[in-house]
Amino acid sequence: MNRREFFKFSWGAVGIAALCSAVGISLAAVVRFLMPSVFYEPPQTFKIGEPGDFPFGPPTFLVDEKIFVFRDRDKGFAAASAVCTHLGCTVAHFSSDQKFHCPCHGSVFAADGSVQHGPAPRALDWFEVTQARDGQLRVDKDKVVPPTYRLMV
Ligand code: FES
Repeated sequence: MNRREFFKFSWGAVGIAALCSAVGISLAAVVRFLMPSVFYEPPQTFKIGEPGDFPFGPPTFLVDEKIFVFRDRDKGFAAASAVCTHLGCTVAHFSSDQKFHCPCHGSVFAADGSVQHGPAPRALDWFEVTQARDGQLRVDKDKVVPPTYRLMV
């Protein structure tokens, strides 16, 4: 192989490699384009357990669902969101003052979820609680109810 043939062969090899790279990158882009960029949320309706699983008095905090479940002797069951309406931090319920406190920026919510101290722009949500056929309590986060809503069991 003389010098001229060597360069001819080299440029041909470089061209084929560049073409293969371009086709590969294009195919990868097409495959990525065809795959949906979707984040699946957990179900908004879920069972939380038997009525007897929840004590009277202070609310039960369900970490995964981010809700407080209240059980009053005379009023029944209620579920409040534990997600602060400011930037989404998880609020804590203090039995000492019966209020919800956000640790992030200091918002305070009254026992009914209304804002007592900002920067939260609106009250905490309350969700519908129903009883499923198997007797378990079911919370539907898609159904916001007034804070006075209670399920009597
Ligand atoms: S996230 Fe609760 S006060 Fe900012």
